[in-house]
Parts: sequence; C-alpha cells; structure tokens
Amino acid sequence: MSELALELKGVHKRYPVRAPESGAGEELLRGVELSVARGEFIAIEGQSGSGKSTLLHLLGGLDADYTGEVRVMGEELRALSDAARAALRNRAIGFVFQSFNLLPQLTALENVLLPEAFCTTKGGIPDARARAKEALEEVGLGGKSSSRPGELSGGERQRVALARALLAAPPLVLADEPTGNLDARTGQGVIELFQRLHARGTTLVIVTHEVRVSRAATRVLLLREGRLEAPRIDPLQTEGEGAR
Ligand SMILES: Nc1ncnc2c1ncn2[C@@H]1O[C@H](COP(=O)(O)OP(=O)(O)OP(=O)(O)O)[C@@H](O)[C@H]1O
Ligand SMILES: [Mg+2]
Repeated sequence: MSELALELKGVHKRYPVRAPESGAGEELLRGVELSVARGEFIAIEGQSGSGKSTLLHLLGGLDADYTGEVRVMGEELRALSDAARAALRNRAIGFVFQSFNLLPQLTALENVLLPEAFCTTKGGIPDARARAKEALEEVGLGGKSSSRPGELSGGERQRVALARALLAAPPLVLADEPTGNLDARTGQGVIELFQRLHARGTTLVIVTHEVRVSRAATRVLLLREGRLEAPRIDPLQTEGEGAR
C-alpha cells in the first residue's frame, strides 16, 4: 500500500464557461503539486474564490474533470471506474461539505447514518447505529439526534455533517471550513476532535480561514494563483489571534 494518503501532480482545472464563444474560462488550478503522507494533518488556507473547495472535491473523488494526476491511497482516481471510485470514497474518505449537504427530511441521527446506506462492504458498517450515536455525542449533539436539519442551527448542522463524515472511521478526512459557523468554544471542541483523530493516525486535510485550526495542523498550505505554496509567516497575525 502507498505510504502517501494523497498525491497530486500537475493538476489543472477550469470550469466550463456559460458563454463558450467568449473563449475558455480562466484556469482555477494551475499545476497543483501535493504529497500528503499518511497521518498528516494539513490545513489549506486561501482567499475566497481561490479554489479551495474545488481542490477538496478533486481530492475526494467528487469531480473527475481535471488534468494531471490525483492519487488517493495510491490509486489514480481517473483510472478507476465510477463504481470503483465510489467504493474508494466510501471506504477511505470522510467528507465534510462546506454547505453540509444534509437531507432535510431525515433526523440528525439518520443523516449521520447515511454512509451506511451506501456502504458496499459486506455486513455494512459494524455497529453503525451505536457509532452514529457516539459520533453525535462526540460533536456535542447527543441530545439532538431526533432533530431535523430545519430545527438545528447552522453550527449544529455543520457538526452533524462532521459526525456523518466520521461514521465509518475513514483513514482520510477532508473537511471544508468545518468550524466556519461555530463560536469559539464549540470550534475549540471540533479542533480537539481533529487532534484526537490525528492522534489515532487519521489523515486530515482541512480547508480553513481559522488560525486556531492552522495552528493545530502539522503543515499549513496556501492556495494562491492556482497553486499550493507555503504561507508567508505573518508575526502580527500570530500575535493577538489567540483571543479569537
Ligand atoms: N460548478 C462551478 N461552475 C463554474 N464555476 C465554479 C463552479 N464552482 C466554483 N466555481 C468558481 O470557481 C472559483 C473557486 O470556487 P471555490 O468554491 O473552489 O472557492 P473557495 O476557495 O472554496 O472559496 P470560499 O473560501 O469562498 O469557499 C469561484 O470563482 C467560483 O465562482
Ligand atoms: Mg469554499
């Protein structure tokens, strides 16, 4: 098995434009290179619109429309059939969407249990129901398991999405601004949860605007002008941020 959880080589991505006669759209990703060893905790920063969510979708095998190579757990995603890619996703990746993607008609517990419905492994996810309850406890929502998304706050929905990503104990967790809607204390709880996952050997790639998340990470990368780079250290920002 590959030592690398993720490997990107020369990844380019552009979205199709609505008015093709005006020429091809601008390239959003322009040669992204990335190697993530198993067990790393990576924070990805970058301005709004820089392509962070786009990049995370590629890493999660949710978008195969790119050029270059994307390897997840050693497997080149585009070389896989749709079914094989879906199976890899189910087996290896917990994905926390920026927009949560909860099903409104299901309760919090049922939403957390969704991956079980798509699980292709024989016997499904062991003890799925008990684990779903545990995952909700772990994000501080043990008391809200019967609530539907419409009855939850934005931050609570975000945490349901996080619990769902953790249901199958995936070796790789990709999360898109998972503390974006949380107050400082609840956000701290989620960061501590990531640290526990990291300690257990889970590979984490977290898109974030929050300095506290970046501080918890073992490596911070900045997406800028279509490429990943090491961020410039800004001492002024490092001061004073502790209060947030
Ligand atoms: N499906 C799509 N079709 C066309 N353009 C898209 C699509 N999705 C995103 N874009 C464009 O690509 C750019 C990057 O979007 P993306 O969501 O990756 O940014 P981001 O870095 O995650 O921003 P934010 O911090 O605001 O979440 C944006 O300009 C957006 O308009
Ligand atoms: Mg985004």
